[in-house]
Amino acid sequence: MPPNSESVMVYNSPHFFVPRLPLMSNIRISLDCLISEAISKVTGLHDCKAHVIYSTRPEFGDYQANGVMAAAKQLKTNPRELALRVVAAIPANDLIADVQVAGPGFINLYLSDGYLAKNASRLVATGGELLSKVETPLRVVVDYSGPNLAKEMHVGHLRGTIIGDCIARVIGAQGHQVIRQNHVGDWGTQFGMLIAHMESLRENSSQAVVQLADLESFYRKAKTRFDLEPGFADQARGYVVRLQQGDADCLRAWQQFIDESLSHCEGIYERLGVLLTREDLKPESFYNSELEDIIKVLDDKGLLSVSEGAKCVFLQEFTGKEGAPLPTIVQKSDGGFLYATTDLAALRYRGQTLGADRVLYVVDARQSLHFQQVFAIARKAEFVPPECSVEHIAYGTMMGEDGKPFKTRSGDTVKLSELLEESVRLAHKLVSAKNPDLSEEARKEISDVIGISAVKYADLSKNRMSDYVFDWSTMLSFEGNTAPYMLYAYARIRSILRKQGDEKEPSGVAEIRITGSEERNLVLKILQFPEVINQVAAECYPNYLCAYLYELAGIFMRFYEACPVLKAEAEIRASRLTLVALTSTALKQGLALLGLKTLEQM
Ligand code: ARG
Repeated sequence: MPPNSESVMVYNSPHFFVPRLPLMSNIRISLDCLISEAISKVTGLHDCKAHVIYSTRPEFGDYQANGVMAAAKQLKTNPRELALRVVAAIPANDLIADVQVAGPGFINLYLSDGYLAKNASRLVATGGELLSKVETPLRVVVDYSGPNLAKEMHVGHLRGTIIGDCIARVIGAQGHQVIRQNHVGDWGTQFGMLIAHMESLRENSSQAVVQLADLESFYRKAKTRFDLEPGFADQARGYVVRLQQGDADCLRAWQQFIDESLSHCEGIYERLGVLLTREDLKPESFYNSELEDIIKVLDDKGLLSVSEGAKCVFLQEFTGKEGAPLPTIVQKSDGGFLYATTDLAALRYRGQTLGADRVLYVVDARQSLHFQQVFAIARKAEFVPPECSVEHIAYGTMMGEDGKPFKTRSGDTVKLSELLEESVRLAHKLVSAKNPDLSEEARKEISDVIGISAVKYADLSKNRMSDYVFDWSTMLSFEGNTAPYMLYAYARIRSILRKQGDEKEPSGVAEIRITGSEERNLVLKILQFPEVINQVAAECYPNYLCAYLYELAGIFMRFYEACPVLKAEAEIRASRLTLVALTSTALKQGLALLGLKTLEQM
């Protein structure tokens, strides 16, 4: 124990918010406060962070504080000696059982079993709710999915849709107000071509509606006509002009097309179990009436220049080849607006009308430059308040086994609906082979969940920034960090609870006892649930949550092998049973936050 453990904690530093270590707090934050306090006491520096992280190895304790090295550097003093003084200055507390200085000045922290047991017991007594709500909820806009409605959703939309959905769920679960925004592409010259094709079909027969059902081939036919059929391209351009002028007939045809396309998307959202609804829709066309004004404001702020007839914004931070300034075009010489103009209007709407504190764009990494430019211009034009955080949550490309962007054998884009059905079909085969005795109804239910979860989990469990190779056999494997493994682990825990004859969720009865390292590991892992959620909410990497759940499942299995439940004496049995139930809650909630359904039996 650190010295003075008997003395009362006195916090007189105005620079630190030191919580009274509330039960069910975030352990890492509590440790961070304690160590920061000690650093500031010893050094007089108030801006040094304790930098507490999970220990990189079990022999380095449960957590480690790495902040002393930076403080020592700033003070030009020996880091190891400083670390020793910091350790001696850690305020009295009940969570740290042991502290060690390692290497050049790392501080290894060991939590006390008593603290862990007490926290877990308190958690049970208060109803087993793993997450508490933030005190000051933020308004967080999450822009995700945003398919182009001219075509059917394809695999390129998969990542953004499920990563965005997970982030929206996680941030919402913390008690923030989440505003989902589906920035679908519903405007532009392509729609002239599609309406022209639709109208000519309608004139000839009533086939239009039937053909629209296959949006992809509808688009391809329209495109072929546009490229090859004499006069068709002019007709299409005519529709674009009429559309822009607000011609009622033309708008009606356009709306019909959009509705059809949207119901395709909704079918996919439903199948994927994604939260997006029509209420979350803010299509590009929503901002049409704002675009003139965006140009005017940019001009008023002196941000606009004209280059070859086009209106552009040049910002110093963006240069192209050989340092030549890179323009962001906001209005073409023919008066047309661009993707960037709409995004500026959208960001202003989010900052000013929606009053967002944080705006997240879950969009392909290839649009990185676009967003950097839009964000920088919006800042200069004061479209968003300075304290609002605007972040591009980028992700890499889904690759085929050949290492190239995922395509069909003939080189076409893969329809998302077909990919999902293929996954469910493969899952059905697996389930039937594994459990031939199950009824067809049960097999269907299980393979639906496994098939969809496999695709989602494979994606969410990878670091979103890297490209990843889409591979059926790993994602459907029952081993490793996969959906089938996780779903199976959950179902197994449920069956354990059923067999113990007590399916009740943790109630206020059991005191948690830590009698050995397997129990300790499990308790610590469960208590870390809010930390992981916090980290995902802050950094928007769903793979942290997947890794956590996978580790939790593994730690649980080791606990269950080492610690008999039914045969243990009454109090220990109650404690262990409660740990099983808490693990089940954590797994279920974690998987739900990833947007995955669970099965009680498999
Ligand atoms: N529709 C765009 C695309 O398919 C994605 C929209 C992303 N969101 C945004 N605010 N630009 O690439």
